[in-house]
Amino acid sequence: MRDLFAEELKALRERALDRHLREISSEQGPEVEIAGRRFINFSSNDYLGLANDPRLREAATSAIGKFGVGAGASRLISGTQSPHLRLERALAKWKETEAALCFGSGYAAALGTIPALVAKNDVVLLDKLCHASLIDGTKLSGAVLRVFPHNHLAKLESHLDWARRKHPGKRILIITESVFSMDGDRAPLRELVELKRRFGALLLLDEAHAIGVIGPNGRGLAAAENVSEEVDVQMGTLSKALGASGGYICGSRTLIEWLINRARSFIYSTAPPAAMAAAALAAVDLLSSPEGEKRRLLLSKKINLMRELLSPRTSHLSPPGDPPHSAIFPLIVGNEQAALDLANALQRDGVLVPAIRYPTVAKGAARLRITVTAAHGDDQIQALYPAIKRHSL
Ligand SMILES: Cc1ncc(COP(=O)(O)O)c(C=O)c1O
Repeated sequence: MRDLFAEELKALRERALDRHLREISSEQGPEVEIAGRRFINFSSNDYLGLANDPRLREAATSAIGKFGVGAGASRLISGTQSPHLRLERALAKWKETEAALCFGSGYAAALGTIPALVAKNDVVLLDKLCHASLIDGTKLSGAVLRVFPHNHLAKLESHLDWARRKHPGKRILIITESVFSMDGDRAPLRELVELKRRFGALLLLDEAHAIGVIGPNGRGLAAAENVSEEVDVQMGTLSKALGASGGYICGSRTLIEWLINRARSFIYSTAPPAAMAAAALAAVDLLSSPEGEKRRLLLSKKINLMRELLSPRTSHLSPPGDPPHSAIFPLIVGNEQAALDLANALQRDGVLVPAIRYPTVAKGAARLRITVTAAHGDDQIQALYPAIKRHSL
């Protein structure tokens, strides 16, 4: 029994694909502590620096005072406390949709929502670079899955045509992300909306890396492109730019009512702590305020500084095309061991940028995924390239 997975683990190690936890002994921020040493942190999705914001902390603490720590039951039994509903009303108002529903995580939102939307003989058309949660949700649904090459509209169109012919009368669901998590580029949303309209398909847009960062009041790419009404299912997470934890779906009232009745990850799981809902609510309030605008501007400045310092010098490691204006800077090293060696060397120099490897990205496309946040100091950003240069080509 002790050796149950020893061979498999050895095989992972030999391919430089083994993974390990690192213990952070501090709060989250542009610097974190590991084993008593401080590191500049370029690995976080806390894009606006809200994970340790005093307003979110205060909201969570005072909610614990009033509502306690655990929710005690699932949302449909007796776990729905006032902060859950306040958060969902605030999310719907902020996103300008009829209603919203929160889940324990973004992953749970995908896993519950997709199988509630489609089933056997329906068709899901998924961008090749979509996050694991979207792939897993689709597999769980039992729908027919067709993957289209990343952002390839012509291929998507031919898949739509095929689906309409081969699965007449069935539901077709297009799934994509607004900002792709490992590449930082965006979906061509207007063109996607045009296609979904023409073929009578549904569109699920995962705004995980756009929410809080892009669009008016940080409402995401659908709002930025003025196509919110056309995106049937607006998914996102409260755990990245919003600095809290949990996932959400925004959409029509009937969609949300359907999910309350059919999304199994919502129904069969204890409600998230009320304190987390209260912290996320404080983040939503902040994002719609002038302070939110200030944070987004600050993030934009930090992105510009990073681009200026990094992009011209690392263009040989960047994905093809113009680097997008994004907080995510992938440096594609290729070989898994080489990416791991570079990440370890940077860590020895006090810079935390983990290597991202298969199966998160394709085999042979291992990379450093550098993320910049509004909370980084210019000096911290300026320290990054010299550290990379010391250890790479
Ligand atoms: C694109 C995308 N969708 C969904 C998720 C899942 O969100 P959460 O971390 O809240 O489970 C992530 C998180 O890594 C993500 O990058």
